Amino acid sequence: MEPSLLPVDARADDGRMTITFITGANKSLGYETARRLIELGHTVLLGARDAQAGAAAAERLGARFVQIDVTDDASVAAAAADVEQHEGSVDVLINNAGVQGPAGDPSHLTGADVLAVMDVNVAGVVRTTTAFLPLLRRSADPVIINVSSAMGSLAATHDPSRPESHYLAPIYTSSKAALTMLTTQYAKGLPGVRVNVADPGYTATDFNGHSGPQTVTEGTDAVVGLATEGPGHGSGRFVDRDGEIAWS
Ligand SMILES: NC(=O)c1ccc[n+]([C@@H]2O[C@H](COP(=O)([O-])OP(=O)(O)OC[C@H]3O[C@@H](n4cnc5c(N)ncnc54)[C@H](OP(=O)(O)O)[C@@H]3O)[C@@H](O)[C@H]2O)c1
Repeated sequence: MEPSLLPVDARADDGRMTITFITGANKSLGYETARRLIELGHTVLLGARDAQAGAAAAERLGARFVQIDVTDDASVAAAAADVEQHEGSVDVLINNAGVQGPAGDPSHLTGADVLAVMDVNVAGVVRTTTAFLPLLRRSADPVIINVSSAMGSLAATHDPSRPESHYLAPIYTSSKAALTMLTTQYAKGLPGVRVNVADPGYTATDFNGHSGPQTVTEGTDAVVGLATEGPGHGSGRFVDRDGEIAWS
């Protein structure tokens, strides 16, 4: 998928900029997504749980900071209320915030380890989506992008030619498999909303000690493509930077 290179405003017909809310956007892939979408003409609401980091990132980019911890019902509700008061609607929701949890040998994993990762990567997406849906429904072309991973794909984690097959992260991979399935269910259950998954690919960020081969710009091609493609595209797709891939 080739994201548009020129500044675009997919909702320009109603005379205002596309309003895009991104969770976990104070750094790494979320921050780069914010930077690129601002460059492309979006009004970006930069969500972050840490007020200092979020405000500083928003100021650097020319975004508006909105505090949100996706594990906290009250924080998510306050973020949606803040956006309702200031912007009144949202066109694109990007559920980007994610954590990895313990990787490697699963012998000593605990239930608490699982719940902590699922709370951000799965329940956090549900909380945020539920809170922001009323705002998205005010858009002429509402879009939800869930940042999942081929680490949650049975095919990719069993293909020796793919980096995903060489890495052991039992809880993270399970959470992304769950998020991917969640997305297909939302796509079926929300016919008026385009709900898709973006897989960034293995990208150098704090998430993996900067071990990934891709730059954050390469890692945000899929999400930027989905955020800028405009009306008429499908719901329930799994997209990486080279285009649509199989769900399996
Ligand atoms: N990097 C990769 O290779 C790769 C590949 C495939 C998919 N992904 C996915 O891409 C997304 C972004 O990854 P990244 O590499 O940019 O990771 P990152 O560098 O670890 O950044 C993660 C972001 O999520 C935020 N976050 C974590 N818990 C949160 C919470 N409870 N509420 C709100 N924000 C929270 C972090 O905030 P703090 O700064 O406050 O911790 C940070 O802004 C994740 O969903 C990840 O699973 C990454």
